[in-house]
Amino acid sequence: MMRYAHVVGWGRYLPDRVVTNDELSRVVDTSDEWIYQRTGIHERHIAAAHETTATMAFEAAARALAVADLHPSAIELIIVATSTPAYMFPSTACTVQDYLGASHAGAFDLSAACSGFVYALQMAAQSIAAGSVHNALVIGAETMSRVIDWQDRSTCVLFGDGAGAVVLKGSSIPGGVMATTLRSDGSGGDLLSLPALYHNPVPIAGAEFSHNGHHKNIVDMDGKQVYRFATNVIASSIHDVLKMAELTTDDIALIIPHQANVRIIETAAKKLKLPMEKFYLNLEHTGNTSAASIPLALCDAVRDGRLKPDDNVVLVGFGGGLTWGASVVKWDVTPPDVSFPDREWKRVRYVMARGRSHVRRLQRRVEAAVVRPSRNGDGSDGD
Ligand code: COA
Repeated sequence: MMRYAHVVGWGRYLPDRVVTNDELSRVVDTSDEWIYQRTGIHERHIAAAHETTATMAFEAAARALAVADLHPSAIELIIVATSTPAYMFPSTACTVQDYLGASHAGAFDLSAACSGFVYALQMAAQSIAAGSVHNALVIGAETMSRVIDWQDRSTCVLFGDGAGAVVLKGSSIPGGVMATTLRSDGSGGDLLSLPALYHNPVPIAGAEFSHNGHHKNIVDMDGKQVYRFATNVIASSIHDVLKMAELTTDDIALIIPHQANVRIIETAAKKLKLPMEKFYLNLEHTGNTSAASIPLALCDAVRDGRLKPDDNVVLVGFGGGLTWGASVVKWDVTPPDVSFPDREWKRVRYVMARGRSHVRRLQRRVEAAVVRPSRNGDGSDGD
């Protein structure tokens, strides 16, 4: 029997701290006028010192689970699309698994820059279609503010922090994620990059590692080339995914593009001969939040009443790699009425999840200190 991956929950998190263009103009030589005219961005949210990609991803996920009315233990797969994990391992997804107490979930991070959410959605939808999982959490989360050169006015004005999440649920009823195209072109990798490895000198002959030109872990971008690439692939991937889904643009209620720059989207709309009203935009208040931008915009579109049951929505991502991709999703849910007291009460489970996690850590320490040495006297358990 065919299995379809339906979106049954959605949630977002934006840090409280808002940084306006005017505030940025006191940090670098720029102005609200320049930024707004070239990008459509007015302000962005910036994570507080205690916030990480994982804490924001958790907040978005907890809200998505509340909308889906699902217990975290029902989730079997957690994918976090991110380019700004605090650690390569443990993955952000594993930390989210722990915070949620999602005791039956496999968890991993996915790296496809600003296209990451569309990639992750497809991986989770395919796992559901194959019958290997029933419920999955797909999260896009970024702390871009920590990988930006705040002295470089051509990049620091563009990005923001945040997280968005959806819950996918398997069903035999047709709908949900209907078609997806994913593409990449590594020859353009140098146009938009973020080094991951620190230069750690290796004191062994022949093993010296030289960093590929960059010495800092900051975003490097060729703005003009990325601009050209983006306008082309938005148009081509929407065209390709509609063909795959056997739909035309007339069948599409809304297009939610990666929120990089309003001018990029305007140029793509012209190429597709579509009115701008077909495109949902919220980047004015968020900036480019990379992998978080599409799920954040999706949540805002639902909040604004832009999606009705049976609407077809196209999600389209593009970014570093180079990567790009698009998904057609049949929106088949009426937003449930999730009342606040209910939501707040259910958050007690996350306090308990952290408690259980502490207990498990303590257990491990006790086992390591007491049980093993007393058995063998040498710290090994002898198995
Ligand atoms: N404030 C004021 N001036 C700025 C500025 C800023 N924040 N950033 C750049 N400038 C200046 C440049 O120094 C340059 O000055 P010069 O002519 O004296 O050398 C001038 O503005 C024009 O720069 P340019 O790079 O040609 O501007 P642009 O019209 O290409 O716009 C971007 C720059 C970054 C807004 C644009 O290229 C872009 O949006 N690219 C895509 C970026 C993106 O979306 N990346 C993520 C994709 S996932």
